[in-house]
Amino acid sequence: MKLITRPRRLRTNSIMRSMVAETRLSKDMFVYPMFVCKGSKVKNEIKAMPGVCHYSPDTLVKEVEKLLKLGINKLLLFGVGDKKSETAKSSKSQKSAVPTAIRRLRAEFGKDLYLITDVCVCAYTTHGHCGVLTGGQVLNDPSLEILSDMALAHAKAGADMVAPSDMMDGRVAAIREKLDDNGHNTVGIMSYSTKFASAYYGPFREVADSSPQKGDRKGYQMDIRNGREALKESLIDEEEGADILMVKPALAYLDVIQNIKNHTLLPLACYNVSGEYSMVKVAAQAGLVDEASIVMENMYAFSRAGADIIITYHVKDILSKGWM
Ligand code: PBG
Ligand code: ZN
Repeated sequence: MKLITRPRRLRTNSIMRSMVAETRLSKDMFVYPMFVCKGSKVKNEIKAMPGVCHYSPDTLVKEVEKLLKLGINKLLLFGVGDKKSETAKSSKSQKSAVPTAIRRLRAEFGKDLYLITDVCVCAYTTHGHCGVLTGGQVLNDPSLEILSDMALAHAKAGADMVAPSDMMDGRVAAIREKLDDNGHNTVGIMSYSTKFASAYYGPFREVADSSPQKGDRKGYQMDIRNGREALKESLIDEEEGADILMVKPALAYLDVIQNIKNHTLLPLACYNVSGEYSMVKVAAQAGLVDEASIVMENMYAFSRAGADIIITYHVKDILSKGWM
């Protein structure tokens, strides 16, 4: 038969397929989220997220040693177990888990490690919301002050970059100003610029003990039905001075990743969140899917959609098990 084109010629064997592959992954693009607490000798695996643990500073150092050997040198740190209060006082304390962990990691590994910190107060408020709560409402402008104080505390402890995940209006500008006014103009901002009010954060909230006691986050996180607004949110953060933009969650929002990528010159990250991770883990443990194949298929999807940076709990498996 005479065919003008035979696309299968480019799929003949793995050498050919690799030559024409449109998407390539590199270990440089991965960021590993980790949960830190105070104390010592803590390494508690989280039931909802197999393979993910809480670490105290001493066990964290041991784990990071292994991660560096695998080529994982960018962490996103979350604090757990700090004292909760109405106005999240411990979120700006140098004694809290995250600043303590940063100082310890810096002392051990210096600048071999790039440290990004999540900035949000939901794990530090008694009510579990991501800002100041008054009369059942999360107030925007008063929340900016506590968020920028928290960002400054992380910068003072030695963070390279802060990542606000609260979705208050104007927080990138407020944090940028606070950091600059205090001599931290080299500390970057990776904004959770387009963050949806998603059911995929379920396992995380168990890990971080950060569920809202009443109500939900729909008054500040984005409506899952909105794609145009998703772009608007990211472009606002670009204007406010974000260095890196982010879409979260990732898998159900590949269209959003692609659209933002087409409208910004900034690097774009995606966050492959806890629920996405746990679903894959549980399905693999049940023997329903091949874990390596399905994880890599997801990673390629993020990259193909336009993500430059992938934040994922899977990266340790990917690199230690040679999946890439
Ligand atoms: C805090 C925060 C959340 C996540 C990252 N930062 C939870 C939330 O907004 O409820 C989710 C991460 C994950 O699910 O892996 N605001
Ligand atoms: Zn929050």
